[in-house]
Amino acid sequence: MSAPGLAPRLAAAQLLHGVLQDGKMLSELVNGKDSPLRDLPPGGKARAQSLASETLRHLEPIDIVLDQFLQKSPPLKVRNALRLAACELLVDGIAPHAAVDAAVRQVRASRKTAHMAGLTNAVARRVAEHGPEIWADLDPQRLPTWIATPVERAFGKDALRGIEAAHAKGAPLDLTLKDKSEAEELAKALDAEVLPTGSLRLHKPAQVSTMQGYDSGDWWVQDASAAIPVTLLGDLSGRRVLDLCAAPGGKTMQLAAGGADVTAVDVSKERLKRVRENLTRTGLTAEIITADAVRWDPAKPFDAILLDAPCSATGTIRRHPDLPFAKSGEMKKLLGLQAKLLARAYGWLKPGGRMVYCTCSLLPAEGEGQMAKFLERHSEAKQIPVTGLPDGWVDSFGGMRLRPDFWGDRGGMDGFYAAVIEKP
Ligand SMILES: C[S@@+](CC[C@H](N)C(=O)[O-])C[C@H]1O[C@@H](n2cnc3c(N)ncnc32)[C@H](O)[C@@H]1O
Repeated sequence: MSAPGLAPRLAAAQLLHGVLQDGKMLSELVNGKDSPLRDLPPGGKARAQSLASETLRHLEPIDIVLDQFLQKSPPLKVRNALRLAACELLVDGIAPHAAVDAAVRQVRASRKTAHMAGLTNAVARRVAEHGPEIWADLDPQRLPTWIATPVERAFGKDALRGIEAAHAKGAPLDLTLKDKSEAEELAKALDAEVLPTGSLRLHKPAQVSTMQGYDSGDWWVQDASAAIPVTLLGDLSGRRVLDLCAAPGGKTMQLAAGGADVTAVDVSKERLKRVRENLTRTGLTAEIITADAVRWDPAKPFDAILLDAPCSATGTIRRHPDLPFAKSGEMKKLLGLQAKLLARAYGWLKPGGRMVYCTCSLLPAEGEGQMAKFLERHSEAKQIPVTGLPDGWVDSFGGMRLRPDFWGDRGGMDGFYAAVIEKP
């Protein structure tokens, strides 16, 4: 791999700064109106984003390596240039001269840091020479306490370390098929693996919009674990189903492809645009409603409901390594909103109807805890144990609990919780 030009590197440094100093998510920075990527060509945009993202994924071990070669901490801009170079050298495997040269040019590009070009050159060279040996002995980046403590308490220390190791590896690209009977054929065409749960998994990075089946809407990108909750609702053909908190629409498409008459509700007009685009591309249909579910009420009850509640998204850190840096772990408001949405949605279910409550979170408070409180308040509601999944994927109450360290030999999965509730 060759080192990126100066412009993508400067943009990557701005992204790093935006996450670490301003507490913003990469997606916010990349898509915002002042995006550091706005003037870059597509290749430069992709490179800047992946360099920032990989640097954040390994920030702690990168800093440990850099600190071996720094006598005192340099100004942040210089440290960030060195962090990017270390990522190129230790993670991306970029040729030493190219990575060192790029870091030096980056530091020279600003009048404020130009005088530190010599130091940058010396440190980056030493990282190139001695860094790999140190790197090999370092643990993967640790999770912040607000995630690590509840995860360790619930699943144990080995699970926590396994999750951190899975985060360091990143995520493959998973696809959900509109028509599952095409799995083998598409897998062959895309050089993908058919997972036991029916998703396709690509192990090599690919440009999604140029892949076979994208224009014809044969599949959509969705992590294998995110594709399971909808399947827990069983046969949906001809049933009225509410997809509550629907955007960007991965589960809306699954429900519609399963033959359901889908009502998709989300508070975000902007995110619902993605649902519309996704439905158009795949030729699927759903009624789309922009509404705050805390205030909205449906005209009549539903046969089934999927509530994919807003959450910490801590199950998706493999794909969003910026998340632990950008979020503070303040959970009170989210937990209150989840409980409220759960209670309201249950009220919209027909007697005999089933609801799946799910979150892409690693935090038991947003999954197992939320379900326990719900069942306490609704003693008539019945939790239906999840079946048909491998041992260890279902908790003692019958809820589905997936973790990034599962399927380690296959490339992991996002963390997810899902529970099935039946209304008598
Ligand atoms: C986890 S995402 C949903 C992902 C989606 N189900 C999918 O599979 O693509 C949570 C969604 O909840 C929506 N949301 C948050 N608060 C809401 C509210 N009060 N009413 C309706 N939607 C809400 C957010 O806009 C966000 O799109």
